[in-house]
Amino acid sequence: MSIIQPEIIIQRLSTRSLGRKILLKSETESTNVWAKKAFQEAEPSGTVFLADSQTQGRGRLGRNWYSKPGCGIYCSILVRPRIAVDAYPQLTLAAGVAVAESLRATAKVDATLKWPNDVLLNQKKVSGILCEFAQTQSGDRAAIIGIGINVNHERENFSGELERIATSLKAETQQIHDRNVILAAMIQSLESKLDLLENNSEKILFEEWTQLCGMIGKTVSLMTGKVPVEGTAIGLDEQGKLLLDTTNGQRRAFDCGEVSFDAL
Ligand code: BTN
Repeated sequence: MSIIQPEIIIQRLSTRSLGRKILLKSETESTNVWAKKAFQEAEPSGTVFLADSQTQGRGRLGRNWYSKPGCGIYCSILVRPRIAVDAYPQLTLAAGVAVAESLRATAKVDATLKWPNDVLLNQKKVSGILCEFAQTQSGDRAAIIGIGINVNHERENFSGELERIATSLKAETQQIHDRNVILAAMIQSLESKLDLLENNSEKILFEEWTQLCGMIGKTVSLMTGKVPVEGTAIGLDEQGKLLLDTTNGQRRAFDCGEVSFDAL
């Protein structure tokens, strides 16, 4: 069993602002909802909201995030990045790289990325990212970077549809992992990725993302509207949109959608 202890996470950090303040609840509806409320009440940038369980964990596209108590990382980070609002989707890419790097470094697993917000182990989802935009009535803006990581879940914990698509570090490595160590590595890495975006070095971030992405060069199917678009994943464009060479001979950039692909 690993217990989340904010003081241990903070001890391991050498960040300027991310994780300087960490709040922990044993249970909350959703750490993203909690962080959004706290932003309205003037919580500072860099604050991390952690919960040991969520009763209504939120995923992308209105889905739920399975938040088994005591097993996972359910975390939201409030940031006020000095980037244009139309660059906010790049925060999802930054968080993906930070999660993949931290899992590789701490759990020694071969974590890969799937556009736009998934981190995979052996083609199954170990982590998901939900970035949400927040604004006060006076126009103060922030992003809430919500990150869920399946850490010490048993394989049997994933039932129904999750059995096919989800995994955890424990299920893949047969070892219990310390959530404090993973959280500290992830927060530390995320600050450096946000620095890249704020310093107009997003190209470096996109290269790192592409290196970690398991889809590049593969035939993928992207669902954006009602009809799927088939093509080869080429990488990211200069804004972080997904580039596909479609089967009808066009190169197209996409800023949203749901990708599926065969690993082989
Ligand atoms: C997805 O893959 O669809 C995104 C999942 C994001 C889940 C995390 S868990 C912490 C934070 N709070 C939430 O309610 N959601 C995010």
